[in-house]
Amino acid sequence: MSTRTLEQLQAMKRAGEKIACLTAYDASFAHWLDAADVDIALVGDSLGMVVQGQASTLPVTVEQMVYHAACVARGCRQAYRIVDMPYKSYDTPEHALTNARRLLQGGEAMMVKLEGGAPAQLAVIESLLGAGIPVCGHLGLLPQSVREPGGYRVQGREPEAAERILNQAQALERAGVGLLILEAVPAALGRRVSEALQIPVIGIGAGVHCDGQVLVLYDLLGITPGKRPRFSRDFLAGAGSVEAALRAYVQAVKAGEFPSAAESFN
Ligand code: KIV
Ligand code: NA
Repeated sequence: MSTRTLEQLQAMKRAGEKIACLTAYDASFAHWLDAADVDIALVGDSLGMVVQGQASTLPVTVEQMVYHAACVARGCRQAYRIVDMPYKSYDTPEHALTNARRLLQGGEAMMVKLEGGAPAQLAVIESLLGAGIPVCGHLGLLPQSVREPGGYRVQGREPEAAERILNQAQALERAGVGLLILEAVPAALGRRVSEALQIPVIGIGAGVHCDGQVLVLYDLLGITPGKRPRFSRDFLAGAGSVEAALRAYVQAVKAGEFPSAAESFN
């Protein structure tokens, strides 16, 4: 098995083939992502919640991300591996460069992901790209901004907010970002952003018209305690095994059968 490349993922968008992405935090699950032909393994800082039991992603450190990224890299050799830069690890260009290099070297990341698209964020992203580090953007609901007003809810419902997200997405693409994650926005906005950009837009709670989908692995397996987010689906129920659940997810994404309208925001 050869490792997926960013060029292949971008070609999938042009060919109209949907991209299936899942989070992974350890080697065993990473192995099953590969076995199910998942295109992208995202070592998300959601591990702060689903692995560590924290109330948010804010306490996650770079060192912890390096540890989990290295675990995932040992288990998976086919999926393209993106690693989240945790809260406060990219507040200046210098800080971002140092920490991204740790994720690339210690965690074998192929790309790093940063939340946000404000002008200050763009400067940070440009310095990473200038150093040859591939970057994934993340717009819409930004879990690292939970403490800010209007933080933890569907984003881009009002026309001005939708316009701002679209403009930020275009600015990220112009800066050279290779992929974009779009979280918790109305399906119509997910579609608009996906159509406006050349780079793949991977949605989570952003409707079926995105170029790909991502879910938190533990949500897909129905093992995250508490209420399941509206936009996730328990693929393990009825599947019989983890491998079958992951295959069912990939198949549903590729066929454009996930998410349904009831699993999207309007
Ligand atoms: O940390 C994470 O799992 C993420 C995805 C939800 C996109 O950033
Ligand atoms: Na994240």
